[in-house]
Amino acid sequence: MNANFISRNTPKLRSCNPTGHIFHSLTRGMKEENPSGFFTSALAHEVRNPLSNINLACEMLTSTLLDNDQKIYVDIIKRASSRINRLVTELLTSGAQDELPSDNQSIHQLLDEVLAMTSDRIRLKNITISKDYSTIDCRIWMNKQQMKIALTNIIINAIEAMPEESGKLKLITRSINSQSVITIEDNGMGISKENLTNIFKPFFTNKQGGIGLGLSTTLDILRANHGRVDVKSEIGQGTSFFLTFDRLKICNT
Ligand SMILES: Nc1ncnc2c1ncn2[C@@H]1O[C@H](COP(=O)(O)OP(=O)(O)OP(=O)(O)O)[C@@H](O)[C@H]1O
Ligand SMILES: [Mg+2]
Repeated sequence: MNANFISRNTPKLRSCNPTGHIFHSLTRGMKEENPSGFFTSALAHEVRNPLSNINLACEMLTSTLLDNDQKIYVDIIKRASSRINRLVTELLTSGAQDELPSDNQSIHQLLDEVLAMTSDRIRLKNITISKDYSTIDCRIWMNKQQMKIALTNIIINAIEAMPEESGKLKLITRSINSQSVITIEDNGMGISKENLTNIFKPFFTNKQGGIGLGLSTTLDILRANHGRVDVKSEIGQGTSFFLTFDRLKICNT
Protein backbone atom coordinates (compact mmCIF):
# COMPACT_ATOMS: atom_id res chain seq x y z
CA MET A 1 0.00 0.00 0.00
CA ASN A 2 1.47 3.32 -1.03
CA ALA A 3 -1.19 5.78 0.06
CA ASN A 4 -0.72 9.53 0.22
CA PHE A 5 -1.94 11.29 3.35
CA ILE A 6 -2.66 14.87 4.37
CA SER A 7 -4.15 16.35 7.50
CA ARG A 8 -5.81 19.70 8.13
CA ASN A 9 -6.89 20.61 11.63
CA THR A 10 -8.33 23.78 13.05
CA PRO A 11 -5.15 25.66 14.07
CA LYS A 12 -3.50 24.99 10.70
CA LEU A 13 -6.39 26.28 8.66
CA ARG A 14 -5.40 29.91 8.63
CA SER A 15 -1.91 29.24 7.39
CA CYS A 16 -2.87 26.77 4.66
CA ASN A 17 -5.67 28.91 3.25
CA PRO A 18 -4.13 32.26 2.31
CA THR A 19 -7.33 33.99 1.20
CA GLY A 20 -9.16 32.58 4.24
CA HIS A 21 -12.76 33.00 5.38
CA ILE A 22 -14.26 32.56 1.93
CA PHE A 23 -17.63 31.44 3.21
CA HIS A 24 -17.84 34.14 5.84
CA SER A 25 -16.87 36.91 3.49
CA LEU A 26 -19.55 35.69 1.09
CA THR A 27 -22.25 35.66 3.74
CA ARG A 28 -21.35 38.65 5.85
CA GLY A 29 -19.78 41.02 3.37
CA MET A 30 -22.83 43.21 2.72
CA LYS A 31 -23.33 44.03 6.33
CA GLU A 32 -19.71 44.99 6.85
CA GLU A 33 -19.87 47.16 3.75
CA ASN A 34 -17.14 45.07 2.24
CA PRO A 35 -16.91 45.77 -1.52
CA SER A 36 -16.31 42.10 -2.37
CA GLY A 37 -19.38 41.21 -0.27
CA PHE A 38 -21.37 43.78 -2.18
CA PHE A 39 -20.16 42.31 -5.47
CA THR A 40 -21.15 38.82 -4.29
CA SER A 41 -24.63 40.00 -3.36
CA ALA A 42 -25.02 41.78 -6.69
CA LEU A 43 -23.85 38.66 -8.51
CA ALA A 44 -26.19 36.46 -6.46
CA HIS A 45 -29.02 38.79 -7.36
CA GLU A 46 -28.22 38.70 -11.06
CA VAL A 47 -27.93 34.89 -11.07
CA ARG A 48 -31.63 34.70 -10.17
CA ASN A 49 -32.70 36.24 -13.50
CA PRO A 50 -31.31 33.56 -15.85
CA LEU A 51 -32.41 30.97 -13.27
CA SER A 52 -36.00 32.14 -13.62
CA ASN A 53 -35.67 31.79 -17.39
CA ILE A 54 -34.36 28.24 -17.01
CA ASN A 55 -37.33 27.37 -14.78
CA LEU A 56 -39.81 28.91 -17.21
CA ALA A 57 -38.26 27.05 -20.15
CA CYS A 58 -38.42 23.78 -18.15
CA GLU A 59 -42.11 24.34 -17.43
CA MET A 60 -42.73 24.83 -21.15
CA LEU A 61 -40.75 21.69 -22.01
CA THR A 62 -42.55 19.59 -19.40
CA SER A 63 -45.92 20.53 -20.82
CA THR A 64 -44.91 19.72 -24.40
CA LEU A 65 -42.58 16.72 -24.00
CA LEU A 66 -44.19 13.31 -24.20
CA ASP A 67 -41.11 11.13 -23.78
CA ASN A 68 -40.61 10.00 -20.17
CA ASP A 69 -36.82 9.83 -20.53
CA GLN A 70 -36.72 13.46 -21.61
CA LYS A 71 -38.92 14.41 -18.65
CA ILE A 72 -36.41 12.80 -16.26
CA TYR A 73 -33.66 15.11 -17.59
CA VAL A 74 -35.91 18.17 -17.40
CA ASP A 75 -36.71 17.25 -13.79
CA ILE A 76 -32.97 17.10 -13.04
CA ILE A 77 -32.54 20.62 -14.49
CA LYS A 78 -35.47 21.86 -12.41
CA ARG A 79 -34.14 20.34 -9.17
CA ALA A 80 -30.64 21.70 -9.80
CA SER A 81 -31.88 25.20 -10.57
CA SER A 82 -34.13 25.29 -7.52
CA ARG A 83 -31.11 24.23 -5.41
CA ILE A 84 -29.11 27.13 -6.91
CA ASN A 85 -32.04 29.42 -6.23
CA ARG A 86 -32.15 28.36 -2.55
CA LEU A 87 -28.39 28.84 -2.17
CA VAL A 88 -28.49 32.26 -3.78
CA THR A 89 -31.43 33.30 -1.59
CA GLU A 90 -29.48 32.18 1.49
CA LEU A 91 -26.49 34.20 0.27
CA LEU A 92 -28.63 37.29 -0.17
CA THR A 93 -30.45 37.03 3.15
CA SER A 94 -27.62 35.81 5.41
CA GLY A 95 -25.91 39.21 5.21
CA ALA A 96 -28.69 40.44 7.49
CA GLN A 97 -27.81 38.01 10.28
CA ASP A 98 -25.37 38.77 13.08
CA GLU A 99 -24.57 35.11 13.69
CA LEU A 100 -25.16 32.14 11.43
CA PRO A 101 -27.45 29.75 13.35
CA SER A 102 -25.97 26.56 14.78
CA ASP A 103 -27.83 23.68 16.30
CA ASN A 104 -27.40 20.19 17.76
CA GLN A 105 -27.82 18.03 14.65
CA SER A 106 -27.68 14.37 13.69
CA ILE A 107 -24.71 13.45 11.51
CA HIS A 108 -26.67 10.61 9.89
CA GLN A 109 -29.52 12.91 8.94
CA LEU A 110 -27.03 15.40 7.55
CA LEU A 111 -25.36 12.71 5.41
CA ASP A 112 -28.71 11.42 4.15
CA GLU A 113 -29.82 14.90 3.16
CA VAL A 114 -26.55 15.50 1.28
CA LEU A 115 -26.98 12.16 -0.49
CA ALA A 116 -30.49 13.19 -1.51
CA MET A 117 -29.14 16.50 -2.85
CA THR A 118 -26.51 14.72 -4.93
CA SER A 119 -28.72 11.79 -6.00
CA ASP A 120 -29.14 13.05 -9.58
CA ARG A 121 -25.37 13.03 -10.19
CA ILE A 122 -25.09 9.63 -8.48
CA ARG A 123 -27.85 8.17 -10.65
CA LEU A 124 -26.49 9.64 -13.89
CA LYS A 125 -23.15 7.88 -13.30
CA ASN A 126 -24.76 4.76 -11.88
CA ILE A 127 -22.64 4.93 -8.75
CA THR A 128 -23.23 2.39 -5.97
CA ILE A 129 -23.74 3.88 -2.52
CA SER A 130 -23.04 1.97 0.66
CA LYS A 131 -23.64 3.24 4.17
CA ASP A 132 -21.91 1.91 7.26
CA TYR A 133 -23.32 4.08 10.03
CA SER A 134 -22.46 3.59 13.70
CA THR A 135 -25.30 2.21 15.81
CA ILE A 136 -25.24 5.40 17.87
CA ASP A 137 -26.35 8.39 15.84
CA CYS A 138 -23.72 10.98 16.68
CA ARG A 139 -24.90 14.52 17.07
CA ILE A 140 -22.70 17.59 16.74
CA TRP A 141 -23.12 21.28 17.21
CA MET A 142 -23.13 22.61 13.66
CA ASN A 143 -24.47 25.08 11.21
CA LYS A 144 -26.39 22.60 9.07
CA GLN A 145 -26.59 24.76 5.94
CA GLN A 146 -22.83 25.30 5.95
CA MET A 147 -22.09 21.65 6.68
CA LYS A 148 -24.33 20.55 3.82
CA ILE A 149 -22.25 22.70 1.46
CA ALA A 150 -19.00 21.24 2.86
CA LEU A 151 -20.12 17.61 2.52
CA THR A 152 -21.67 18.23 -0.89
CA ASN A 153 -18.34 19.57 -2.17
CA ILE A 154 -16.52 16.44 -0.98
CA ILE A 155 -19.15 14.07 -2.40
CA ILE A 156 -19.37 15.89 -5.76
CA ASN A 157 -15.57 15.64 -6.07
CA ALA A 158 -15.79 11.92 -5.31
CA ILE A 159 -18.50 11.47 -7.95
CA GLU A 160 -16.42 13.38 -10.50
CA ALA A 161 -13.35 11.25 -9.73
CA MET A 162 -15.13 7.92 -10.22
CA PRO A 163 -15.80 6.02 -13.42
CA GLU A 164 -19.30 5.55 -14.77
CA GLU A 165 -21.02 2.27 -13.86
CA SER A 166 -18.27 0.95 -11.53
CA GLY A 167 -18.06 3.87 -9.07
CA LYS A 168 -18.48 2.99 -5.38
CA LEU A 169 -19.09 5.65 -2.75
CA LYS A 170 -19.00 4.61 0.90
CA LEU A 171 -20.14 6.67 3.88
CA ILE A 172 -18.95 5.54 7.29
CA THR A 173 -19.59 7.06 10.72
CA ARG A 174 -17.85 6.09 13.95
CA SER A 175 -17.54 7.37 17.49
CA ILE A 176 -13.99 6.81 18.68
CA ASN A 177 -12.65 8.03 22.02
CA SER A 178 -15.43 10.58 22.32
CA GLN A 179 -14.73 11.90 18.87
CA SER A 180 -17.03 11.51 15.91
CA VAL A 181 -15.56 10.60 12.53
CA ILE A 182 -17.28 10.74 9.15
CA THR A 183 -15.45 8.89 6.36
CA ILE A 184 -16.30 9.54 2.72
CA GLU A 185 -14.57 6.95 0.56
CA ASP A 186 -14.48 6.63 -3.21
CA ASN A 187 -12.82 4.25 -5.65
CA GLY A 188 -11.93 6.99 -8.10
CA MET A 189 -8.73 8.08 -9.81
CA GLY A 190 -6.96 9.07 -6.58
CA ILE A 191 -4.71 12.08 -5.87
CA SER A 192 -0.93 12.19 -6.25
CA LYS A 193 1.26 13.03 -3.25
CA GLU A 194 2.21 16.35 -4.84
CA ASN A 195 -1.40 17.37 -5.56
CA LEU A 196 -2.54 16.31 -2.11
CA THR A 197 -0.63 19.23 -0.57
CA ASN A 198 -2.51 21.65 -2.83
CA ILE A 199 -6.12 20.47 -2.91
CA PHE A 200 -7.27 22.80 -0.11
CA LYS A 201 -5.66 25.87 -1.68
CA PRO A 202 -8.09 28.28 -3.34
CA PHE A 203 -8.18 27.99 -7.12
CA PHE A 204 -6.21 24.74 -7.22
CA THR A 205 -7.89 22.52 -9.77
CA ASN A 206 -6.89 19.98 -12.36
CA LYS A 207 -10.34 19.63 -13.86
CA GLN A 208 -11.36 21.10 -17.13
CA GLY A 209 -13.90 23.78 -16.22
CA GLY A 210 -13.10 23.46 -12.49
CA ILE A 211 -12.77 26.58 -10.33
CA GLY A 212 -10.84 25.07 -7.45
CA LEU A 213 -12.94 26.65 -4.71
CA GLY A 214 -14.85 23.58 -3.49
CA LEU A 215 -12.33 22.26 -0.99
CA SER A 216 -11.02 25.63 0.22
CA THR A 217 -14.63 26.60 1.06
CA THR A 218 -15.09 23.19 2.70
CA LEU A 219 -12.01 23.76 4.83
CA ASP A 220 -13.32 27.14 5.99
CA ILE A 221 -16.68 25.64 6.87
CA LEU A 222 -15.13 22.75 8.81
CA ARG A 223 -12.97 25.20 10.74
CA ALA A 224 -16.05 27.30 11.58
CA ASN A 225 -17.75 24.12 12.81
CA HIS A 226 -14.75 22.94 14.88
CA GLY A 227 -13.93 20.06 12.60
CA ARG A 228 -10.73 18.67 11.20
CA VAL A 229 -10.09 16.92 7.91
CA ASP A 230 -7.59 14.22 6.94
CA VAL A 231 -7.26 12.82 3.43
CA LYS A 232 -5.78 9.51 2.34
CA SER A 233 -5.42 8.71 -1.32
CA GLU A 234 -3.81 6.27 -3.69
CA ILE A 235 -3.54 6.78 -7.42
CA GLY A 236 -5.86 4.44 -9.30
CA GLN A 237 -7.37 3.09 -6.06
CA GLY A 238 -9.39 5.93 -4.57
CA THR A 239 -9.60 8.63 -1.93
CA SER A 240 -10.93 8.84 1.63
CA PHE A 241 -11.84 12.04 3.45
CA PHE A 242 -12.00 11.70 7.27
CA LEU A 243 -13.90 14.46 9.07
CA THR A 244 -13.38 14.53 12.83
CA PHE A 245 -15.33 16.56 15.37
CA ASP A 246 -13.97 16.91 18.86
CA ARG A 247 -15.62 15.58 22.01
CA LEU A 248 -16.67 18.99 23.34
CA LYS A 249 -19.00 19.36 20.40
CA ILE A 250 -20.40 15.84 20.54
CA CYS A 251 -23.43 14.54 22.32
CA ASN A 252 -24.73 11.06 21.62
CA THR A 253 -28.37 10.14 21.96
N1 LIG B 1 -12.22 12.53 -4.33
C1 LIG B 1 -11.29 13.03 -5.15
N2 LIG B 1 -10.64 12.24 -6.02
C2 LIG B 1 -9.67 12.73 -6.84
N3 LIG B 1 -9.29 14.03 -6.87
C3 LIG B 1 -9.91 14.87 -6.01
C4 LIG B 1 -10.93 14.43 -5.12
N4 LIG B 1 -11.34 15.49 -4.38
C5 LIG B 1 -10.61 16.54 -4.80
N5 LIG B 1 -9.76 16.19 -5.78
C6 LIG B 1 -8.77 17.06 -6.46
O1 LIG B 1 -8.72 18.27 -5.75
C7 LIG B 1 -8.88 19.36 -6.67
C8 LIG B 1 -9.53 20.52 -5.94
O2 LIG B 1 -10.87 20.22 -5.60
P1 LIG B 1 -11.90 21.41 -5.47
O3 LIG B 1 -13.22 20.82 -5.12
O4 LIG B 1 -11.35 22.44 -4.54
O5 LIG B 1 -11.93 22.07 -6.91
P2 LIG B 1 -12.55 21.51 -8.25
O6 LIG B 1 -13.42 20.34 -7.97
O7 LIG B 1 -11.43 21.29 -9.20
O8 LIG B 1 -13.41 22.74 -8.75
P3 LIG B 1 -14.75 23.33 -8.09
O9 LIG B 1 -14.41 24.68 -7.57
O10 LIG B 1 -15.72 23.36 -9.19
O11 LIG B 1 -15.16 22.41 -6.96
C9 LIG B 1 -9.69 18.80 -7.81
O12 LIG B 1 -9.46 19.49 -9.02
C10 LIG B 1 -9.15 17.36 -7.88
O13 LIG B 1 -7.97 17.32 -8.64
MG1 LIG C 1 -14.92 20.40 -6.49
